Amino acid sequence: MNPSPPAAEIGVIGGSGLYALLDGAIEHEVATPYGPPSDKITVASVSGRRVAFLPRHGRDHRFPPHKIPYRANLWALRSLGVRQIIAPCAVGGLRPELGPGTFVVPDQLIDRTSGREQTFYDTGAVHVSFADPYCPAGRATVLDSATRVNAVDGGTMVVVEGPRFSSRAESRWFTSIGGTIVNMTGHPEAVLARELALCYTAIALVTDLDAGVEGDHGVTQEEVFQVFAENTARLRDVLLDAVTKLPAERTCPCKDALAGIKLPFELP
Ligand code: ADE
Repeated sequence: MNPSPPAAEIGVIGGSGLYALLDGAIEHEVATPYGPPSDKITVASVSGRRVAFLPRHGRDHRFPPHKIPYRANLWALRSLGVRQIIAPCAVGGLRPELGPGTFVVPDQLIDRTSGREQTFYDTGAVHVSFADPYCPAGRATVLDSATRVNAVDGGTMVVVEGPRFSSRAESRWFTSIGGTIVNMTGHPEAVLARELALCYTAIALVTDLDAGVEGDHGVTQEEVFQVFAENTARLRDVLLDAVTKLPAERTCPCKDALAGIKLPFELP
């Protein structure tokens, strides 16, 4: 008997305001060894590509950034067949030229979170490379689709624990160490994807200038949600274009992230 075909090949882990991205789709309730993911996963065809959509915070925004079941989310997507992930997210700008409404496709990450489960491998010797946290092929595709919104190519995403925003001193320090944008969900999502040999590409929408940027008034939640909502249609256009253009065959290093490593368990 042939095994059933994978439900999806591409995953989109949506940020605030994108929960209704896919129309006419099938919902999957997926169980994982790490508990349930943030919500049911919706799978639909987008121009012939099977795409799985998972609202990162849950449909009702139940999970704040530090409580998101990141491991369950990545495991569940892989178990549906997903191998490439596009991850839109809201970020603060750490430089005055990156004002609200700017899109950035980051190429680096600095982890400033604490206390989050950030590995699948609590036994055995599994040490993945993370020098380049994002998939080069995914970045090239998303950048191509995002020319329509003048996305910035590259940037370093500082990921803070939250749920509070940063102080002005913290924010100035993030800029001084090379940060260009700041958010609360980019880690451990990126590293957990790498630990499952998945391609992972972030596309960040700047919703505010962070507190340390000169002339800024300090970030508010209201501003973040409002700017994200105002840009949902632009983001949706970019995502729907990008999922159709991702290479069907993976030739990037992400697929070999676990090559030669003895895993303590089988991946889904
Ligand atoms: N998400 C959106 N804006 C942010 C900011 N300024 N800091 C952290 N996370 C954010």
